[in-house]
Order: sequence, then C-alpha cells, then structure tokens
Amino acid sequence: MEKQKTSGAAHFAIVIMAAGKGTRLKSKRAKVLHEIAGRPLLAHVIKAAQQIVPAEHIYVIVGHQAEAVRAAVAPLGVKFVLQAEQRGTGHAIMCAREQVASYQDILVLSGDVPLLRPETIAQLRDFHLSKKAAMTILTAAPPDPFGYGRVIRAGGSDRVKAIVEQKALTKSQQKEREINSGIYAFATKPLFANIDRLKTDNVHHELYLTDMAALLVKNKAVVVALKAADSAEVLGANTLAELSSLDATMRARKCADLMAAGVSIYRPETCIIDNDVEIGADTILEPFVQILGRTRIGSDCRIRSYTVISDSQIADNVLFRPGCIIDQSTIAAGAQLGPYAHVRPGSEIGEGAHVGNFVETKKTRMGSGAKANHLSYLGDSDVGAGVNVGAGTITCNYDGVNKHMTVIEENAFIGSDSTLVAPVRIGKGAYVAAGSTITEDVPADALALGRSRQTTKEGWSRARREERAKAKAGK
Ligand code: UD1
Ligand code: CA
Repeated sequence: MEKQKTSGAAHFAIVIMAAGKGTRLKSKRAKVLHEIAGRPLLAHVIKAAQQIVPAEHIYVIVGHQAEAVRAAVAPLGVKFVLQAEQRGTGHAIMCAREQVASYQDILVLSGDVPLLRPETIAQLRDFHLSKKAAMTILTAAPPDPFGYGRVIRAGGSDRVKAIVEQKALTKSQQKEREINSGIYAFATKPLFANIDRLKTDNVHHELYLTDMAALLVKNKAVVVALKAADSAEVLGANTLAELSSLDATMRARKCADLMAAGVSIYRPETCIIDNDVEIGADTILEPFVQILGRTRIGSDCRIRSYTVISDSQIADNVLFRPGCIIDQSTIAAGAQLGPYAHVRPGSEIGEGAHVGNFVETKKTRMGSGAKANHLSYLGDSDVGAGVNVGAGTITCNYDGVNKHMTVIEENAFIGSDSTLVAPVRIGKGAYVAAGSTITEDVPADALALGRSRQTTKEGWSRARREERAKAKAGK
C-alpha cells in the first residue's frame, strides 16, 4: 500500500516540524501526540509523507517532549533531528541542516497539519520542480483565514513577495484571504545559503521560516505559491476545538472511502472508525458503531448499533447484535454474537459459533458451531466444536493466585447453571447435569452430577399450613 508514487525520490527529503509545544491547546501532552482518528497527528503526517519518499528520507524535528514523540513514531522507521530549544520554525530547519543539506530539494511539512493528502504533496513537489523555484509555498483560501500567515503575491502571478504572520498584518493585508499552509518545498542550496539571515524581529522573538520568502526574493531567487484545491486539507490544529473538527473531517473521509468500497454505513456521522480499519464490501454498519485500532472485518457482516470492536479480526458473514464489545479477538465466518456479548482479549470464536446475551469470554476458543447463548463466563477455556454451554454456566478459572484451564471436548453438553472448577476437562460427548459443581474430570460420553440429590417430602407443605391454622384458632 505504501509504495512510492514518485520519480527521482532520492533527491528529495521530507522534513516534518514537530518540536513545538502547542501552548494554545492548554494540555500537558505535546501537540503532535494528540490523536485524531485513532492516531497521533504526527503519525498521519508521516503516513502521507511515506507515500512520497521512503521512511529513511523522512526527518522529524523533535524538541518539546522529544522522547515521547520519538517513541510514538519510531516504529514507522523515520529519522529524527533534535531541536533542543524551540526558537521558531526557521530555527527548526536550521537544526536539520547537517542531515538534509545534501539533498537537492526538501519538502517541509508541519506535524500539526494532518489532513494533507499524499497527492497534494506530490503536486507541490512537481510544481516546485517545474518552476525551478527556490521556495514553493502551499497555500489555501479557507472560509476563515484568521490566525494564519497570509501570502502576499506579486500582482496575482505565481510569484510571492512575502508571508506575513497574522499578528503583523497591516490593515489592508488583513483582507488577504490566501493563507500559508506551513507546507513548503525548498531547493536546499539557496535555503541554507540564506537561512542564517533570518531575524527575530517579531512579536515572539523567534526565527520564522516564513521570513525566508521575502529573504529569498530579496536575493533574486524564485519564490512561488501553489494553491491547494481543497482548503480543508491544510487546516492546522492549534486548539482542542480545531482538533475535534479535524477528527470529524478525518472520520468522515474514512467513512466516505469505506462507502465507496461497498460498505453500507447508515448514519456515518454517528460512527467512529479508525484510519487503519479495513471492512469488506456488503457489510452493514448501523448507527453508533465504533471500529477501532487495527480491526479487519470481512464481507456481508452486520454490525448493529452500539457495538465496539477493537484490534480484532472478523471473517465474513458475522452478525453482531446490539451492544457487543469485542477486543483483540478473532471471529470466524458465520458466528453470531450478542446482544451484549463481551469478547475479551485472546478469544477465538469459531465458524458459526454463538456467543449470546451477557456472555463473557476471555482467552477462550469456541470451536465451530459451539454455543453459549445466555449469561455465561468462559475464561481460559477451550470449548470444542458443537458444544452446548447452558445458561448461567461459569468457568471458575481463578483460585485467587493462578489461572487454570477448562477444556470442554467436542459435542459435550453443559447443563444450565453449572460451575466448572478449573483445571478440569469434560470429555467428548459427555453430559453435565444442570446445576452441577464440577471439580473432577468427566470422561467422554459420561453423565456427571455434581449436586446433592433432591429429596421430596410428600404432604409437608399441607401439614404445615394446617398446623398454623390450628395454632391461630387456639388463641
Ligand atoms: C505557522 C506559520 C504560519 C502558517 C501556519 C499554518 C510560522 C512562523 N508561521 O504558524 O504562517 O499559517 O503555520 O499552520 O512558521 N515547530 C518546531 N519548532 C519550533 C516551532 C514550531 O518544530 O521552534 C513546529 C510545531 O511543532 C508545528 C509547526 O512547527 O508542528 C508549526 O508551528 P506552530 O507554532 O504551530 O506555527 P503556527 O503559529 O501555526
Ligand atoms: Ca500550527
């Protein structure tokens, strides 16, 4: 999936600025670690970048909470640049000089602009190369430009004169609608020949990368702008409210992709589906469903309302009735679950098996066609094919210190309200009488009764009634 869509990629590096604190979020967590659609902001940007160049040519600038940021995205195989003190976006790029100056060109992305599509990055790269520019700025015209730097063009041409930050805008510049997305392409030679000329003469006393535009123009270099077709792609997240609107956009995009691939989603705005989720065609999602993490769902499934599935593998034709919770488990074709089934980590539900109302499984394998339809706890168990687990059956898997296994061999029948005290094995085809407490293994084809025998006292109740009536009359 993550293959390169590029020619001559080795000439390009991608630098992602992610060292800033994100003061405006009012959160102790670094901004780029805040999540939308189930992944940190920075991971979205890296995933898009990986569609353009391989991970070894992606450099992430870290600083604020550097160790946590590194740890969160290191598995993606990118390289890191440390910006120990965060003195602005221009300073961030200065810190990367040694590692990226040998590339002909670099693309600079922002760790807090996560909706950017790989296609748009490729467009920026191609436009930059075709204009032989020193700096190319990706711009947009969102409905509300407030807060962004504005791009001042030279008389409506491709050429740019300067980028002016919101706080430095003159009255007439405040009318400018074209914003700086914070995403750029640079030819490294003119960039690093001029970057030391950046000054801190601004309200934050920082070195702004945006000032490179005017600086390069002054040195007769070509600075151009490319306007993104969809301004939603370059929206940043400076506040938690903005973050939640990016999350909504990202999730709507995911639902739209799934629907385009044949998945029915009745009320997509109520469903929460993480980015890495895969769902087969002709599966139906009812309102208020959540599908999270690395979940894969096959075709022709029906997932009824209020079901939450995380990090699980679901085959074809599976029915989830309302309110199921499924975590880190595998469910084979044709299984039926719920309503209100709780399938906890390490469960394997076999083909056509049933896990019914208020049934909880943990580290339990249910063989094909096995059924536990009502009110059970099956923990650390191996339930064979065709087994019927009666209502209210409980595996006593925990002795207060250790967990023990319960094995129920195929086609055994466990009567309702039985307790199976592990470790214990019920043989093939055996029968456990309802209400039994089973503490010893049951051989194949046997009947086990683990309860005291019923005694019936004929006429006892009538005799008691009559005695009471007599006592009352005597008073
Ligand atoms: C920046 C641009 C602005 C643009 C906007 C788009 C500047 C001066 N302004 O503003 O023109 O409209 O992005 O979203 O660049 N970072 C570092 N090191 C630092 C400072 C920041 O790595 O020393 C990183 C941040 O983590 C962030 C990115 O650079 O990912 C942008 O920084 P931020 O402070 O969010 O800039 P904006 O104010 O949004
Ligand atoms: Ca920002």
